[in-house]
Amino acid sequence: MVQNSPALRFACKEWGFFMVINHGVDEGLMNSMLEGCREFFDLTDEEKRVNEGKHVLDPIRYGTSFNASVDEVSLWRDYLKVIVHQEFHCPNKPADFSNVLQEYTKAVRDVVRGLLEGISENLGLESCYINRALDLESSLQILIANLYPPCPQPELAMGLPSHSDHGLLTMLIENGISGLQIQHKGKWVNVNAAPGAFLVNTGDHVEILSNGKYRSVLHRAVVNNKSTRISIALANGPSPEAIVSPAEELLGNGSSRAAYIGMKYKDYVELQQSNKLSGKSCLDRVKIWPKMPGDY
Ligand code: OGA
Ligand code: NI
Repeated sequence: MVQNSPALRFACKEWGFFMVINHGVDEGLMNSMLEGCREFFDLTDEEKRVNEGKHVLDPIRYGTSFNASVDEVSLWRDYLKVIVHQEFHCPNKPADFSNVLQEYTKAVRDVVRGLLEGISENLGLESCYINRALDLESSLQILIANLYPPCPQPELAMGLPSHSDHGLLTMLIENGISGLQIQHKGKWVNVNAAPGAFLVNTGDHVEILSNGKYRSVLHRAVVNNKSTRISIALANGPSPEAIVSPAEELLGNGSSRAAYIGMKYKDYVELQQSNKLSGKSCLDRVKIWPKMPGDY
């Protein structure tokens, strides 16, 4: 595994994004997940609508942008969000999905633990620092399955608008059709996944914990007019009860004072999800300084 590698350090510092291969998660299991999600989206509207949640922390939430009134940017996506850890939830249909989901999400948590050990070390912290400080035994892990059908006018629509993810690391796989773009130095960069790879992005809580040393990355999903794209993002965060603030060990010498206020992770998720916030505007709310680049 990657642990404490210069490549991981570079990726976190410069990109907030990287691809992981040789991760040990069975490719058959990854394909079964993609298949299971495809079967979910193939259910009838009625069957899917059983899963419509109301509150942002409801354990299962299905949603579609295809019946929404026209927005400024048309969104072109169906999604299924399921809290899978620390409590495990799963829709009743498709049958047999539960075992695959349980096995896959556990395997991904193991990869995430390894990556966070490497990230802790790269930050100059003990390797178990993040796992312990944020109580990852009780981590909030959320499945976000996205369906992007072919769109007749892809240039007029967006699958998912620009945002950063609230957690620590989001592990994404897709069905061989690309569409993810990440922002790098102000430009949108297309991401093409190697077969069997995880696309990983760092979330707002890596930024907060590292006191801004590693930034969460803005990303979005674009659509195409040929093929249906399915992506499965597994958002891996701290314990919902953990109050996350910049690691004490990174503060105090010279210029480094805390740049973010501490906040309970659960409250942060609610704040981000219940507002029509875009980009990194939620993170800006917990930011103490610099509010503007010139504030240094
Ligand atoms: C997400 C996300 C990107 C994609 O679900 O948070 O960023 O490519 N998805 O579907
Ligand atoms: Ni995202």
